[in-house]
Amino acid sequence: MPQPDAPPPRTFGLPLVGNTLGIMRDPIEFQRRGHRRHGPVFSARIFGTTLTFVDPVGAPELFEQVIRTPTDQLSLVAAYKHLVGRILGPELFTEIDKPMREGLSVKYIGRHVGPTVAFVPQVLARRLPGDHGTIDGLRMANDVVLHVVAHYVLGHGGAERHADELAEAMHVLESDFSILGMMLPIETASARRRRAAFDRMMALIEHEVRARRADRGDHDDFLQFAIDHMATSGGEQDDLRFLALRVLGTIFGAHTNTAMSVASTLSDLVEHPEALARVRAEIAALPADAPMDLAAMRTLVHLHRAINESMRLRSNGGLWRMAMCDIDLGGYRLLRGSVVGASMGLVNLDPARYHESHAYRPARFEAMTTDNYQSPPVGSTPLQFGAFGTGRNLCSGRPLAYAMLAAILVPLLRDYEWEVVARPRRWFTLLTGGLSRPLGDLTLRYRRRKSLPRA
Ligand code: HEM
Repeated sequence: MPQPDAPPPRTFGLPLVGNTLGIMRDPIEFQRRGHRRHGPVFSARIFGTTLTFVDPVGAPELFEQVIRTPTDQLSLVAAYKHLVGRILGPELFTEIDKPMREGLSVKYIGRHVGPTVAFVPQVLARRLPGDHGTIDGLRMANDVVLHVVAHYVLGHGGAERHADELAEAMHVLESDFSILGMMLPIETASARRRRAAFDRMMALIEHEVRARRADRGDHDDFLQFAIDHMATSGGEQDDLRFLALRVLGTIFGAHTNTAMSVASTLSDLVEHPEALARVRAEIAALPADAPMDLAAMRTLVHLHRAINESMRLRSNGGLWRMAMCDIDLGGYRLLRGSVVGASMGLVNLDPARYHESHAYRPARFEAMTTDNYQSPPVGSTPLQFGAFGTGRNLCSGRPLAYAMLAAILVPLLRDYEWEVVARPRRWFTLLTGGLSRPLGDLTLRYRRRKSLPRA
């Protein structure tokens, strides 16, 4: 039993770097080892930042406490400002509110995502020119998803005007996004490049918000919804900055995990021909001229299982909260300012939940209780599937994520043949929620399956 008010046990670390190397090498194994040695709660250090890990598998009730405690005591936004704020700018992270949830709801998306879905083949045709070619699969996924997100968030005109430049800036931000970048307490050249890219993105979005406000036309899209519902009662300049941050925050939130899911689902399917054949058969059975709406997407059972399996294998990042006051956790005292959480790899790769947990088997979801997206429930206790988080901060963009994934993967698989030329040497979790990022190239060769309209 811990002494009353004792801090969590600490795992041994090196001077200055602490446990950085162990965590970077294999964060999941690092946490499992720590829990075996110290119990359900322990602390470790990455450079100057102390992280407290809680075990979602061995102590689900303590994990529940962390993800269900109200925001004024354990805050996701404060944790992200602390962990990622240096890279992306702390102001980007704001508490999600009712209008934002509404704008990302199934109801809103069902009414508004149609034009974005119809826009996807055009985006793909630009990225995949000619009848065949070889591409950087990661770059393609990043660019396509950025265009699709920009289309949904800014509307068609906004995407046409800015998506190329936004994608370029996002690439600068993403390519240097690393644990070292997050935690190293020094200003590097890459940090300055990222800041410049972020400022450019803000300028583009502010321009778009200003232009839309001046335009008295009749618009029914996410940007108009944000302008109508998310403005503050501050002065005009404050409002502009606030709105632009919300809009850019939405683009950021919607982009990277979705892009990584496109890259990993596509490459996993290409490397597993039987699973690919099942997905292609159900895509071929879609009515030829009917629009691909949310109802049609949901008939794509095998595609959703494939998406979930790729996410399960790679969505190993952590759910982090910052203590806004002293908190009791499992008999230990977490001081105000502590960062506490767990990596979802402990759940997603747990052999007791998923037999042969490292094997790629989309069909495994057939034998499980699943929801509309063929996913094990995301709010179950104990948690079964952690790709979108759980509890108070469960991903509000989950319906939009599945819609974008289906909208992109259907034409990619239907209209092109694929081959993996080079695969990343490793998928690396950054510790933040969602998917690992590939280290090394993902090179893909494509060939058009049928003649498509040129962009
Ligand atoms: C495959 C794609 C995606 C994955 C794997 C993913 C994953 C996650 C995870 C793990 C969390 C919880 C973080 C935590 O609890 O610490 C989260 C939260 C969130 N995600 Fe996503 N996400 C995806 C797509 C999206 C999209 C398309 C949006 C749209 C804007 C979005 C918006 C959000 C928001 C707003 C939150 C915070 C919710 C809150 O604080 O209540 N995400 N996401």
